[in-house]
Amino acid sequence: MTLLDALRSAVGDAHVLTDADLRASYETDWTGRFSGTALAVVRPASTAEVAAVVRACAAAGQALVVQGGNTGLVGGSVPAGGEVVLSLTRLTSLGAVDVPAAQVTVDAGATLASVQEHARAAGLDFGVDLAARESATVGGLTATNAGGIRVLRYGSMRAQVMGAEAVLADGSVVSRLGGLAKDNTGYDLVSLLCGSEGTLGVITRLRLRLVPRLRSRAVALLALPDTAAAVQILPELRERLPDLSAAELFLAPGLALVRSYAGLPAPFPVAHPAYLVLECAGRADPTDALVEAVAEVDGLLDATVATDAAGQRALWAYREQHTEAISAAGVPVKLDVSVPVGRLPELVERLPAVIEDACAGARPVLFGHVNEGNLHVNVLDAGERAEDVSDAVLRLVADLGGSISSEHGVGRAKVPWLGLSRSGNEIAAMRAIKTALDPAGLLNPGVLLP
Ligand code: FAD
Ligand code: MLT
Ligand code: ZN
Repeated sequence: MTLLDALRSAVGDAHVLTDADLRASYETDWTGRFSGTALAVVRPASTAEVAAVVRACAAAGQALVVQGGNTGLVGGSVPAGGEVVLSLTRLTSLGAVDVPAAQVTVDAGATLASVQEHARAAGLDFGVDLAARESATVGGLTATNAGGIRVLRYGSMRAQVMGAEAVLADGSVVSRLGGLAKDNTGYDLVSLLCGSEGTLGVITRLRLRLVPRLRSRAVALLALPDTAAAVQILPELRERLPDLSAAELFLAPGLALVRSYAGLPAPFPVAHPAYLVLECAGRADPTDALVEAVAEVDGLLDATVATDAAGQRALWAYREQHTEAISAAGVPVKLDVSVPVGRLPELVERLPAVIEDACAGARPVLFGHVNEGNLHVNVLDAGERAEDVSDAVLRLVADLGGSISSEHGVGRAKVPWLGLSRSGNEIAAMRAIKTALDPAGLLNPGVLLP
């Protein structure tokens, strides 16, 4: 039997896509920067089918690329050339919400939005949120240890994952879905899968922590003189606002791009250098507390607060539309870095000159999650100098004591620079783990590890 025959017998003929037109959307990443030809795209519908696909590939020595919603921004979900793409988007079941435990077991291919909706219907909520919610899957969020806009309150994806089931590179299944709050029985394989970027196993199911559903919300948009002001006011805002759940930064060039892309009105009568979106969510209405705290902010240039859902969506749009607006303007160099939060102003100040030096005329667009010192450095018009721009920015970040990937992962895009954030001994230990679990290197070759 050929490999394609074995794959067809594992998942059914209709779910092995070999036709170029049918493969196309699985072969290019969301940014348009990374693409490659797949031998086939295989779409299993259960853990047993995933295991059968992996076993067939292992027997044939065939490499695989694991794919969820294909919204990743570092090229880790698409083939480099010749791999089988293993798409998880047919694994979408949602188990009954366990209200006493505030947990739920779901399939890895379920979208973030579907899990949020499911939790809300049971009077709870999910702690991670990000703009790609309609397509990103919880398996992909776990594999990348995604962050997003609620990390300030609930932590990254790893903090939501209570258990996981995964198919390893030999086709065996490991499963820890009990959701025990306390369980000290050796190596934490579930945590190891968080941030493993598809290199250690194919996540098929997840046991997720849920959080209280907070129905009262208030959103403020603040205009500030610079990033330093945003960093400076945050400790006091956190102190005064126990309901604070998001603090998101963007700057004048990003706002101008978003407004012209989405046709949005100006938030204030005049333009300002920096903007901070604050969101509070609680059981009681947080509006008064937010308004009072904002009124006392040092250096405030202007502010507006929205209490109704439409007004809140309108303020969030200025921040959330950055990714799409940037991609509509060209294929950007997308970097996602973090520095100790006190050094964020210095990073923002030094970046334009560093980028100009690496590529004259390139256009930086900066925004991010200020509480975690996480800056999204997008650079348009870098053309042939994309690698030089990446190199210059990532070296500056390393000099400031930061990380070359804050929340998107390493993927294929950041592999050459992993050594700026991880020591040789750490990389050797990671490689030893990879080799132990996937000796033939069949899962996501070329992703994460050099
Ligand atoms: P994919 O893109 O399909 O895959 C991502 C990686 O995970 C790949 O290496 C893949 O091989 C692996 N993988 C996928 N599924 C599995 C699985 N079941 N088992 C094992 N490995 C798997 N990211 C953030 O962190 N914060 C943000 O705020 C944020 N905002 C975004 C906004 C937009 C508009 C877009 C387009 C993206 C954004 N992202 C953000 C990036 C992206 O949404 C996340 O990385 C997300 O976690 C990817 O999920 P996915 O299902 O699309 O995974
Ligand atoms: C965001 O915070 O909006 C994302 O991580 C997406 C991006 O970096 O473009
Ligand atoms: Zn982000």
